[in-house]
Amino acid sequence: MVIEAPPALNQDVTHIADLRVLHEGVPRWSHLLNKDGRNRALLITAPPDAPPDPHMHPDFNEFWIMLDGETEYQIGQYEPFKAKWGDVVIAPSGYRHDIRSTGRGPWNMRLVVGPQWSNHDIKGIEPSKLLPLPESEPANMIHTSYEWMLERHGTDTNWGEEVVLDQRNRVNFIHSLPGSSNNPHWHPDFDEWWVVLKGELEWRVGKKAPFRAGPGDVVFVEKGYRHEIVTVSDESAVRLAVTNRAGIHIYDGDEPAPKE
Ligand SMILES: [Fe+2]
Ligand SMILES: [Fe+2]
Repeated sequence: MVIEAPPALNQDVTHIADLRVLHEGVPRWSHLLNKDGRNRALLITAPPDAPPDPHMHPDFNEFWIMLDGETEYQIGQYEPFKAKWGDVVIAPSGYRHDIRSTGRGPWNMRLVVGPQWSNHDIKGIEPSKLLPLPESEPANMIHTSYEWMLERHGTDTNWGEEVVLDQRNRVNFIHSLPGSSNNPHWHPDFDEWWVVLKGELEWRVGKKAPFRAGPGDVVFVEKGYRHEIVTVSDESAVRLAVTNRAGIHIYDGDEPAPKE
């Protein structure tokens, strides 16, 4: 059952805890959170016995952000692997993907990001031979592990690294220390959204009242709004930021933001 995002798409912040309450007792649900003009971001949950639906998309890369439980992915010719909290998984265009919930649940949760016209009409053929996942570095690894990213860069500094970069999206994995802030800016040509994976962050958007988001929450800011993002937790924070490929930023001191 796909629920069309009550009360509205593209909310400033969608608290995942509210969705858990909203769907209490429902074994399997999906919830459309965002449409940004390029993507739709659909939160999907599945119990361990949810039937798989292997398929492929010939014309776009699909990716997932893992938000709860454990899910097994088999992508293209690659051996199956398990993904959990904060991991990013990509199925390049033309790569069959077979997704199975392996966590004990009740809710294995993933945010799927594909174009707004996404469909599942092409059922992929099974791989003829399974190959190990290739040794690679970000961006665009088939499986970018959250824990591996933190080990790779450590947790003593502010840092960011792109984990998805294709014709549609640039997704940055960002680690920020307590009290630190981004360099405030706005974007002229794309809506930006984030998934918080760790800590608590405060968004100060135009003249709106500031709001906060924590692990699993999704934040959406329409183009044209200045945004400042501050780490307000005592621990460091991690977020994924989804922008378009060009990712044009206009900082304070340049042109003021057109929206308030
Ligand atoms: Fe798909
Ligand atoms: Fe931004």
